[in-house]
Amino acid sequence: MSSGTIPAGHPPSGTTPAPVAELRAAFEILDALIAVRIEERRGGPAGRCLGIDGNGEGLPPLERFDGVGPLAEVIALADLSAAEAVVLVAAIAPLADERFAVRYGALTDRPSITGLTGEVARNLIARSFRGRLDATVLLSAQGRLRSQGLLSLDPPGDLSGSLRADPALVAWVLGVPPEIEAASAGFPARPLTTVHTLDDVVLPAAARVRVDALAARITHRDTVVDDWGFGAHHDNATGLIALFHGPPGTGKTMTAAALAASAGLPAYVVDLSALVSKYIGETEKALAKVFDRAARERCILVFDEADAIFGARTEVGDAHDRYANQEVSYLLSRVEQHPGIVVLTSNLLANIDTAFQRRIHVMIEFPEPGPGERERLWTTVAPDRLPMDRAIDLGEIARRYPLTGAQIRDATLDAAYLAASNGRVVTTEHLLNGIRRQYEKAGKSVPR
Ligand SMILES: Nc1ncnc2c1ncn2[C@@H]1O[C@H](COP(=O)(O)OP(=O)(O)OP(=O)(O)O)[C@@H](O)[C@H]1O
Ligand SMILES: [Mg+2]
Repeated sequence: MSSGTIPAGHPPSGTTPAPVAELRAAFEILDALIAVRIEERRGGPAGRCLGIDGNGEGLPPLERFDGVGPLAEVIALADLSAAEAVVLVAAIAPLADERFAVRYGALTDRPSITGLTGEVARNLIARSFRGRLDATVLLSAQGRLRSQGLLSLDPPGDLSGSLRADPALVAWVLGVPPEIEAASAGFPARPLTTVHTLDDVVLPAAARVRVDALAARITHRDTVVDDWGFGAHHDNATGLIALFHGPPGTGKTMTAAALAASAGLPAYVVDLSALVSKYIGETEKALAKVFDRAARERCILVFDEADAIFGARTEVGDAHDRYANQEVSYLLSRVEQHPGIVVLTSNLLANIDTAFQRRIHVMIEFPEPGPGERERLWTTVAPDRLPMDRAIDLGEIARRYPLTGAQIRDATLDAAYLAASNGRVVTTEHLLNGIRRQYEKAGKSVPR
């Protein structure tokens, strides 16, 4: 599907019109059409029509799908014909009502089918020889339904295969939240969720300004790219590549997650360790899935520890290196062509290939926090309900210990556990204990 088909942030929580009336009407039309086709197959009176559609196949006219709701919106946006609308509804119907799958069985000579197949779809929309030829073209990879990603045929070249509606589309039309796919070798990305908002991120002024500008750019993307036509007017005008670089624990991943949340977009983190798996030959296929899905669902793609792949390329050495280089080139070109938002995070800017740096639209440095930021971090990482001794001087602690945001969070969490097991109120002593642990973990000595 073109990225314009499903509105961003679908299903818009709370604002989706209840699709019940729309779906009921569409399923009734489908049901009536199935009845006509079954009758025809039994040698009943041919030529019964569900309206005047002009092509003699007895299809309901397109206006019958005019309704208020996501289905009508998809039909209009994708500019579907009556036959295409019927196929789309037929692919979705068994997911809402399993009786449709049973009824489809009567439209094919294959005994057991579990959902819509290409053949059933063809039998549904065509009865004449000419109609069947047209239907075959309509259901091919070049047809609007498949080329726009609304439906897929599995296996692709075989009309006896399953015709499945895009899961995000189904979720949207049925008004349920989309299933989030879990990471696997075939889909090396996991959903990135957060309880944080951008307000929780503590940054020095320079970084803050840039993060806010990026957030605004993401929010106004639809206006500029779609409404004002930049997407259609330029090549690669819709993509946005951002790089967050800085030491570990400074809030890069947190910011990426909070950006997505504030824009109401899902985010996926691409799992690079899964990429360098023994399934290396499958990598391109797996990555293609991630990018396609991200484009369809308008999610933000996050590549953590981007240096691993976007770093200076290795000289061509053994076969494995050559292979890896080929994968890297594929990844780079997909990132560049991606119509959505990609956030890369890295600990060291110098590690990112300079040729690739030129492709990055927004670079934001996440420095180690200074004393002022640290004091704000100590205050914000502690939940409001955490009982704290009033004698604690967070300003003094912040000045004294140059820790990162992640270390301050971990030290506070340690202190909270200590407090829970003795005293029930966090004291300076508990905090100092937590701080000491952070220095031990980093293999450093505690500043005096
Ligand atoms: N700038 C910050 N503002 C607020 N909280 C922060 C900040 N930096 C870190 N934290 C806290 O530390 C946690 C871990 O930070 P995060 O994982 O975002 O760091 P990172 O920069 O991605 O580190 P790495 O380079 O190791 O991946 C955050 O979830 C948050 O609780
Ligand atoms: Mg990170």
